[in-house]
Amino acid sequence: MPFVTLEGIEGCGKSTQARALAQALGSDAVLTQEPGGTPLGRDIRQLLLHGGAMAPAAEVLLYFADRAQHVASVVRPALEAGKVVVCDRYVDSSYAYQGYGRGISLDLLRHVFDLATGGLMPDLTLLIDVPVELGLGRVGRRGPHDRLEAEERAFHERVRDGYHALAKQDPRRWLSFDGSKDEAQLTPELVLAVERRLGVRAGGVR
Ligand code: TYD
Repeated sequence: MPFVTLEGIEGCGKSTQARALAQALGSDAVLTQEPGGTPLGRDIRQLLLHGGAMAPAAEVLLYFADRAQHVASVVRPALEAGKVVVCDRYVDSSYAYQGYGRGISLDLLRHVFDLATGGLMPDLTLLIDVPVELGLGRVGRRGPHDRLEAEERAFHERVRDGYHALAKQDPRRWLSFDGSKDEAQLTPELVLAVERRLGVRAGGVR
């Protein structure tokens, strides 16, 4: 069954859209997230977002430890049970943030990805694109920044550019949306695009 991921920079609105999409797809959909989609992952998430400074390699390995557990215990079982999995962030976050953002080789990250997940790729990835200023402005209104949100603006610009590069390299897997639109206006566009791409429809799979 289809595996759909949502990606974007801080404050792009993808978590809201992931929820809305899963709701539109109904009981055939499982909504999940990274980091933190499992009990182990919730501990790892705490370290990643609220722990102290960490070496870039330690950061990579923690994100992939979270992912390994998540794929093994949530994503694969749900796909095998015939569900549509809607995942708020997945491996492209590692390519964008640790690869383009921190400067770690994408090739190296691909090897770690193979180890962690057996190379399980999404069927469709939705990029919710917003300018950095808009995204960070939204996040600023939510409260204190976590470790990644607190990165300098140039880091977030590299992450956004990274997403654009990733989407361009694989246009059959990626669809981009304008996240500066009103949330309620964006949701039906996104649901329709997913239905078309995957041959699923709200409330059931054809
Ligand atoms: P999250 O709460 O998902 O952020 P958001 O609300 O912006 O979606 O926090 C996850 C943070 O971790 C976010 O800053 C992106 C970052 N991240 C990585 O750097 N690499 C990864 O592989 C993943 C999954 C997330």
